[in-house]
Amino acid sequence: QQGDPVEAPAFLAASYACQRNTPQPGHNTLLTAALSVLAESAELNGDEGRGLAFRRSEGLLRSLDRRVQGPAELRGLPCLGDHSQRVIQDLLENGVSSEVEETKSSPRYRAMKLLTGIFGVGVKTAKRWFTEGICSLAQLETSGHSLNAAQQAGIKYYTDLNQPVSREEADAVSVMVEGVVHSVLPGARVTLAGGFRRGKMSGHDVDFLITHPDEGKEEGLIHKIIACLESRGLLLYQQTTRNTYRESAKGAGRPSSSMDRFDRCFSIFKLTNDSSPEDTRRAQQQDPERVRVEADQTGSGGRPWRAVRVDLVVSPISQFAFALLGWTGSKLFEREMRRWAVRERSMSLSSHALYDRNQERYLRASSEEEIFAHLGLEYVSPTGRNA
Ligand code: CTP
Ligand code: MN
Ligand code: MN
Ligand code: MN
Repeated sequence: QQGDPVEAPAFLAASYACQRNTPQPGHNTLLTAALSVLAESAELNGDEGRGLAFRRSEGLLRSLDRRVQGPAELRGLPCLGDHSQRVIQDLLENGVSSEVEETKSSPRYRAMKLLTGIFGVGVKTAKRWFTEGICSLAQLETSGHSLNAAQQAGIKYYTDLNQPVSREEADAVSVMVEGVVHSVLPGARVTLAGGFRRGKMSGHDVDFLITHPDEGKEEGLIHKIIACLESRGLLLYQQTTRNTYRESAKGAGRPSSSMDRFDRCFSIFKLTNDSSPEDTRRAQQQDPERVRVEADQTGSGGRPWRAVRVDLVVSPISQFAFALLGWTGSKLFEREMRRWAVRERSMSLSSHALYDRNQERYLRASSEEEIFAHLGLEYVSPTGRNA
C-alpha cells in the first residue's frame, strides 16, 4: 500500500450505510466533524432533508478504510452531494472550511445548541425562545416562561448532563441497573444498547434494553424497576411511558409508527463518585463540541455524586432482536436500514418487527443476524454501525 506510485483508485463504497462497516471514529475525522456541524446546524434549523444529506456524507466518510488525501479520491463515491463536496474540497485544500467556522460561531447555532442542550427542550421550543431573544440560561430564567418537569430537571442538572458520560460511568450505571432489575425480577436480562454498545468511549446518556426469557414476565416490570430505584434514592428524575404496540395487518414500521412503543423510561440517575472526577475530566476532553456553560450552574463542584441521563426500555422476548437492533443505533444506521428494507425489499422494519409486504406476513427473528439475513444484508456488528 505504501509508496504506490500510481494514483489510488476510487474507494469502493456501497450507497446505504447499512451495507458498510463504519467504525468509530474512522480515518477522516477532520471531514466528518465538519460535516457533522453542518448536519447539526440544519437539524437545529428544522431542515431535516438538508441535515440528512450532510449525515449521509458524514457516514460515508467515516466508513472509508483510509484517509482521503485529495478531491480526486472522491470520484465515484456515493452519498456526496455538491454542497458536501465543496466543503470537503475546502477542508482538503485549506485545512478549514469557512462555512463550518461561520456556522460554529453564529449566534443562532450557539444559542440553539445551548437551549436544545437542556434536557426536555426540543428544536421547536428552542427556536421559539431564540426568536424571543433568549440566548442563555440566565435569559431563559428571567424570561418568565413556565417550564415543564423535564425542563426544570434539565436546568437543574444542566452542567452534569452536558458533560459526556464516560465508559467507566456507563459501567457503573450498568451495575446499578443490573442489581435493581435482578432484585425485582430474577432471570431478567439487561443489555447495554446505544452508543456504548457500538464501542463509543463516551456518550450523552446510557441506554439499556431489558427483557425476560419467558414471554409475559416483563409485563409491568418497568414500574417495579422505577419503584426500586426510587426506594434506593438512585433517581433524580423519571418519566415512564407505557407500551401500546400491537402487531397490525398494516405492517410495522410505517412512517406513523416509526416512534417505538415499548415500556420505556427517560430518567436521570444519581451516580455516586467512587472514581469519578478523573473519569469525567477525561471524557470531557474527548468531546471538542461540548457546549460550555458560562455560569457554573448547579455544577458538579463539590458534590459526591453527579447526574447522568439513562434510558430504560423493556421489550418482550419475542421482539427483543428488533428492539436491540433499533436501540443500538446509530440513528443514521437505523434510518438507512429502514430505507433499504422498504426500497430494496418491500419490507417494513421497526424496533418491534419486520413485515414482508409481498408475502403479507411478519418475519420472525431471535437474533440481529437473522434480521440482516431476512433483509439480504451482510451482518454488521454493533461496532460497525457508527454511521
Ligand atoms: N432511539 C429510538 N427512539 C427514541 C430515541 C432513541 O429508537 N425515541 C434509538 C435511536 O435510534 C438510537 C438509540 O435509540 O439508535 C440510541 O439513541 P441515543 O441514546 O439518542 O443515541 P446514541 O447513539 O446512544 O448516542 P449518544 O452517545 O449521544 O447517547
Ligand atoms: Mn445513547
Ligand atoms: Mn445523542
Ligand atoms: Mn438514549
